This record gives sequence, structure tokens and C-alpha cells, in this order.
Amino acid sequence: MNLDFSVLNEYVPYIMKGTAVTLLFTLVSALFGFIWGTVLSLFKISNIQPLRWFATVYTSIFRGTPLLLQLALIYYATPQLFNYDISPLMAAGLAFGLNSAAYLSETIRGGIMSVDRGQREAALSLGIPYRTMMFSIILPQAVKNILPALVNECIALLKESSLVSVIGVEELMRRANVVGADTFRYFEPLVFVGAIYYILVLMLTFVARILERRMRRSD
Ligand code: ARG
Repeated sequence: MNLDFSVLNEYVPYIMKGTAVTLLFTLVSALFGFIWGTVLSLFKISNIQPLRWFATVYTSIFRGTPLLLQLALIYYATPQLFNYDISPLMAAGLAFGLNSAAYLSETIRGGIMSVDRGQREAALSLGIPYRTMMFSIILPQAVKNILPALVNECIALLKESSLVSVIGVEELMRRANVVGADTFRYFEPLVFVGAIYYILVLMLTFVARILERRMRRSD
């Protein structure tokens, strides 16, 4: 069998830098997706019809077309229209955040609806303004209820981040391919980054479990 992991020795620092890029990218796009997704979910439950309509169409389009296509549209196609420069990393973060927000807006909307109506009625009857009611009372409880779904989304983003290697972002997947091209050996680098992805997901799951337990303690 032709297998020699020692060829990776000199590439370990190079691949590790890719791990940092992957992690940072996931964090930024998850954060962006969460904020924009929250706004969209508020649009969806608003009583202003154009906002509801916008959020529904938005979700339908971003969920209904491949992420890879959205990535290519943002990175290759829109600069042709508006004549601007965008770095691969920026384009990737934008595409992932916009896409994730579509999924998250539905998750968060579900979370908001899972909070007992009485909470909202009590807040409004106490004269608490809508914004305070939403951000200090309803959303914190909603987020607690949807924590497992949010973890799923983070895991999806982390793994899907491998897609951005196609526009040249030097994250894990890209670096594995570079090492493969450099050494004419693909098995070792691919298995190596595969293990890194898996460990990252395990770590995420672990942190999420601690967070969930701590949140439950306050009940
Ligand atoms: N491969 C899917 C697509 O092409 C990725 C969707 C991302 N999933 C997510 N929960 N954010 O659209």
C-alpha cells in the first residue's frame, strides 16, 4: 500500500493556518447570519406586509438555490455589473451569511413562536415597549429553545466552508488540495484535514452541550 503520512510533516504549519481561516470564517459568517436572520425573522412576524413579503421571498430564493451558485454570483458575476473589487474572503463571508440568514430566520421564527403568548401579553399590558419586549424578554427565551438548531447551523457552516476553496480562499480544503498538488499525494492531506474538520465539529458539539446545561440550570 502506498501510504506515507510523513510527507505531511513540512506542511503541518501550512495546514494549521488553514484551520484558523476556516474557524474564523465560520465564526464571522455565523454571526452575520444570526444577526441578519434575526432581523428577517422579525420581518416575518411583523404586521407590516411589505416586510413580511420581503422576508418570505428572500428566504425562498436563498434557500431555493445552491450556495455554490450564490457564491459564484457574488464573487464572479456581480462585480461585472457594478464594477467593484471584492476579495474572495469578503465574497465568501457575504454569501455564507446571506444564505445562513435564510435558514436561521425560519429557525428563529419558530423559536419566537415557541415562547408562550402570555409573555408577550404580560409585557405589553405592563406598557413595555415592543423593542424591549422583543430583545429582553422574547428573543432570549427563543434562542434558548432553539439552541440545538443553532448548533446544527454552525456545524453546517463549518463543513460547507470547504466550498469557498473554489474561489481561492485558503482555508482547510484548499490547503489540502495545494499540498496534494505539491506532493502528488492526495490521500494523506485529505484524510488529515478530514480529521481536523471532524475534531472541530466534536469540539463545537462539546461546547454546545456545556452551554445548554448551563442555560437549563437557570430554569
Ligand atoms: N449545500 C447547501 C446548499 O447548496 C448548503 C446550505 C447551507 N445550509 C445551512 N443550513 N446554512 O444550499
